[in-house]
Amino acid sequence: MVLNTEHIVFHAPSASSLSLTSRPIRRSSHSAKPLKRHQEKPDAAEAFARYVLARAGLKDNAYRRQPLVRRVSACLRALRLKSIEEARELIARDTVALHTAVNTLLIGVTEFYRDPPAFEMLEDWLEHENRRMTRPWRVWSVGCSDGAELYTVAMLLHHMDALRDAELVGSDCRAEAIARAERGVYHRGLIRHLPESLLPYLRTKNATHVQPIDPIRRATRWQVADVLDDPPPVGSFDLILCRNMGIYLDGAAASGLWRKLCAALRPGGVLMTGHAEQPSGVARLCRMASCLYCKES
Ligand SMILES: C[S@@+](CC[C@H](N)C(=O)[O-])C[C@H]1O[C@@H](n2cnc3c(N)ncnc32)[C@H](O)[C@@H]1O
Repeated sequence: MVLNTEHIVFHAPSASSLSLTSRPIRRSSHSAKPLKRHQEKPDAAEAFARYVLARAGLKDNAYRRQPLVRRVSACLRALRLKSIEEARELIARDTVALHTAVNTLLIGVTEFYRDPPAFEMLEDWLEHENRRMTRPWRVWSVGCSDGAELYTVAMLLHHMDALRDAELVGSDCRAEAIARAERGVYHRGLIRHLPESLLPYLRTKNATHVQPIDPIRRATRWQVADVLDDPPPVGSFDLILCRNMGIYLDGAAASGLWRKLCAALRPGGVLMTGHAEQPSGVARLCRMASCLYCKES
């Protein structure tokens, strides 16, 4: 069974699990060695993951330990190496290997109309808001991966005849993801949740792949940017999507991210998050519905 970790709510360790470490441990001569090995391994994996992110110019300390540690074996597989030491040595001198490592450590899973109930709510809000819009829409998809999320919003706006002069920006810190977004060619498996009404906005590329039609692609632009470090695109946005990225950040970095995104929203604009994400601590953001937060006017 494949577990989609992005839909798991992460819990802080309970007091009882924490207290295990402070309990005196009865060590037999057999138990001492394996215990030490198990403690060291995750630490080495974490140090390696943080080294990779820092080398790529990202704020390594902003990311939570657990998801990073879990991805290290996938990273070694992608590099076709057996040990962290070999990987560290290769990454130090090879930029392609560095990009491969970042691409596996920062999970890029995405698809069109991902999480249908949340997108149905978004569609309702877009329709409602579109009736009072007096100027073109401005939308920003943060941590957009290969762009399926932003293309979904472009299709929804096109369906409402609201795409004219709209500005839709997608940004991600991984250059490979942004290159794929620009190309806009997707395997058919990624459109499994797309409502039938939006299918006409895709054209067949070949037997297995589709591509958004030209008006949809023309409305979008893409940027390689680190949202934790780089300034947001200029101007304020009617809608910002930042989904399934905040869950990988530690508390302080996530709070800073939500504050930054709130500042980039116009009053009355909406932030769409993933299910496991709550932009806590930002006074001006009010929950409208699951995954949707409105900035107070
Ligand atoms: C799991 S994907 C989410 C894609 C899409 N938002 C969705 O929910 O379907 C998370 C994305 O966040 C990006 N990301 C992680 N840290 C980032 C940062 N500091 N700045 C910009 N993008 C980042 C990753 O590269 C990855 O593509």
